[in-house]
Amino acid sequence: MSVQEYLEKHLLSRKIEEAVNAAVRAKAPDPVLFISTHMRRAAPAVITSVRARQILDSRGEPAVEVALHTNKAVHRASAAAADAPEGAAAASTRDAEKRKLLARTVADAVRVINDKVSEALVGMDPQQQAQIDQAIIDLDKAHHKAEIGMKAMLAVSIAACKAGAAEKEVPLYKHITDLVGKSTTTLPVPAITVINGGTHGGNRLPIQEIMILPVGAKSFEEAMQMGSETYHHLKDIILEKYGSDSCNIGDDGGFTPNISSISEGLDLVIAAIDRAGYNGRIKLAIDVAATDFCIGKKYDLEFKFAEKSGQGFKTADDMIEIYSQLCSEYPLVSIEQPFDKDDWEHSKKFTTLELCQVVGDDLLMSDPERIKRAVNEYTCNALVLKANQVGTVTEAIEVVKQAKDAHWGVMVSHRSGDTDDSFIADLAVGAAAGQIKAGAPCRGECLSKYNQLLRIEEELGSDGVYAGENWRTTAGTS
Ligand code: PGA
Repeated sequence: MSVQEYLEKHLLSRKIEEAVNAAVRAKAPDPVLFISTHMRRAAPAVITSVRARQILDSRGEPAVEVALHTNKAVHRASAAAADAPEGAAAASTRDAEKRKLLARTVADAVRVINDKVSEALVGMDPQQQAQIDQAIIDLDKAHHKAEIGMKAMLAVSIAACKAGAAEKEVPLYKHITDLVGKSTTTLPVPAITVINGGTHGGNRLPIQEIMILPVGAKSFEEAMQMGSETYHHLKDIILEKYGSDSCNIGDDGGFTPNISSISEGLDLVIAAIDRAGYNGRIKLAIDVAATDFCIGKKYDLEFKFAEKSGQGFKTADDMIEIYSQLCSEYPLVSIEQPFDKDDWEHSKKFTTLELCQVVGDDLLMSDPERIKRAVNEYTCNALVLKANQVGTVTEAIEVVKQAKDAHWGVMVSHRSGDTDDSFIADLAVGAAAGQIKAGAPCRGECLSKYNQLLRIEEELGSDGVYAGENWRTTAGTS
């Protein structure tokens, strides 16, 4: 088609005239910019290609980054590359193979995205998130999400979500709120990691994380201020007590002093909160990640000791005793994965005591079927949402809805091997999750999420509501 024919077919002369008139009417200070923006809006965005590449995550392991091209711009996204628990609703490309094969499997996912996924999405409107996600799912149906892999799928889906927001000219969290079908946005309470242990730290502490929740802050900004001050006081306390080599940090950015008991860790954190002057305004949370030290039906609290005393093996009922004691002695308001991933019975028994928020991680695997069962049986009362265990943005939103409809708490989570993509910050606000877990106030991949939340709060201004004391009960999604 000649340019002349194109101009006539698309009525471009008339559109240009309209744009000029609009610039005059608006008394645009920069008419050229005004007219070009006006003309851009006249052409709807369509996806023109999807290109993937291998990047490295925070552990230096291969992850997938996607660049989704539209006729207007390029939108990048990457998904966390940490392991999905075994038995998840679908296998992931990275987890399907041993570590030495990671690079090759990520390369396979890159190839599938560049060929099949790109071809399937070309021509689609990036605002149609549900249709895009369905197209991605349909492509891999025969392989149960194993060919593309859930992390790669999520990266494509997030990139499309960013493109959809750009086309609507709204912030990403606002686009997500529209996809949820609600108008409520909430700034989440950050669950800030301050001490690492378990498989995330080289000390003897059996549990994976000790976190602080600044529920008494008035804003997200103040929460991060309180959190980072406490983190730095904690560093001083650890330095004084254990020496400088105890201030090394673990996978989520928490300190890894060579402590061996949970109460020793909680005492350090309480001392730091006290020194920072935030007594009563900061609550505590732990991620036990008990699956990692469950041997048969017992829990080996000394699983990281070179020489074991033999005292470390506990029954599930002993663990209930330990948690109950901790809840009565400390301002401990949330315990994640307190038992093995398949110990539905004791998780229920503990949840029923109503001592704190009980968060299902490996127990649920962000899997709708497992969540359904846990809701019916009251096995836990909160979800940790790891979007890369789900596969697409649409499915992640559905899972949040499912949990909120059951009046559960929802903690949107990063992965311990993560990228600097900050999507989960917008997801937490847009889906009014109430809680976000993104590691310590240090390390780039953690701060990319917290810093994005600071930007969102500033942008929302007086419309920005910090979940604060309502961290477990933010507005429902349906
Ligand atoms: P993971 O840890 O990414 O290694 O599963 C994060 C968490 O459990 O919160």
